[in-house]
Amino acid sequence: MTKMDGTPTIHDVAREANVSVMTVSRSLNEPEKVASKTLKRIKQVIDELGYQPSHVARSLVKRKTNTIGIVMPDIRNTFFNSWFRSVEDYANKLGYATILLCNTDENSDSEIKFIKSFQSHRVDGIIIVPHSDESIRYLAGSGMNFVLVDRMCPEIESDFVVTDHYDGAFRLTNYLIRLGHKRIGVLRGAGVLFPDMERYAGFYDAMRANKIAVPRDLIRNCEFHEAEAYDVVLEMLGRKHRPTALFSFNCLMTSGAIRAIQKMKITIPDDISLAGYDEISGYDIFEPKITHVLQPIEKLGQIAVKVLVSRIEFPDHDRKCKTFLKPKLIIGNSCGRIV
Ligand code: RIB
Repeated sequence: MTKMDGTPTIHDVAREANVSVMTVSRSLNEPEKVASKTLKRIKQVIDELGYQPSHVARSLVKRKTNTIGIVMPDIRNTFFNSWFRSVEDYANKLGYATILLCNTDENSDSEIKFIKSFQSHRVDGIIIVPHSDESIRYLAGSGMNFVLVDRMCPEIESDFVVTDHYDGAFRLTNYLIRLGHKRIGVLRGAGVLFPDMERYAGFYDAMRANKIAVPRDLIRNCEFHEAEAYDVVLEMLGRKHRPTALFSFNCLMTSGAIRAIQKMKITIPDDISLAGYDEISGYDIFEPKITHVLQPIEKLGQIAVKVLVSRIEFPDHDRKCKTFLKPKLIIGNSCGRIV
């Protein structure tokens, strides 16, 4: 029978193709189990009638929605929007055309709420940039397919793909030290997030390896936010004994530092050297080019999708996939030598 609004149903297709409704359903969900001649006739009738299979009905039959949920802090952050695009492109290539996205703003309660919402929507799997270990623990106990990105929790067995944050920070700090910097100001988070802790450990170990005391008064929590970094850098550079270089742990805080440096009418690198994690927006058009640690964003997206799809399609494969990716050090012209 045709719907009240005149759109064709699976029953219309079955009648026109002179097959059962089950055969039409099987031709859509398990075509390999239908004779090619029948399959061809059904497809011809579907095209003639303009029948659109119901996504919900198909997902009930296949117990799959071909949908992936993405849980991440903030799409406005250039790091995350570049990463999200690589996830979406690769997921579509692997047949997962529906991507649900939510932004947690690094809030644990929001994170759990979105995870439960994706669970009730029966997504096939979740790719998450987690704020809290509680979320990871919930996912590990939920039976849902999931992959962690950018952050992981050593105590909880899970698939993850993260940048080697420690390595990037260690190398960037060594670069600043080789230019003669000892009073290096650090713009970081609250010491809770995995990338923050790993980056600080890399900075700290590089300073200790060069027998340089860590200037505690120059290590400041800016919450990975632009506005906090602006205020902190204004204060730092207003001091009599100010830092000779700044190391920012993400692109947003680097932008805040640049805004403060401009406000103070001092110049990079003549008056202050500046380097950070992640390429800032407009890197290619502004001078000086800010030296930074470049994460393999596209790989972080593609590997996450590949691991999740493998988890969805081969659920019995229980060995966890744990990937650390090496970042690159991109040397610009924002760091001067101390003579
Ligand atoms: O703000 C984005 C930064 O935080 C990136 O460096 C990413 O690693 C995330 O942890």
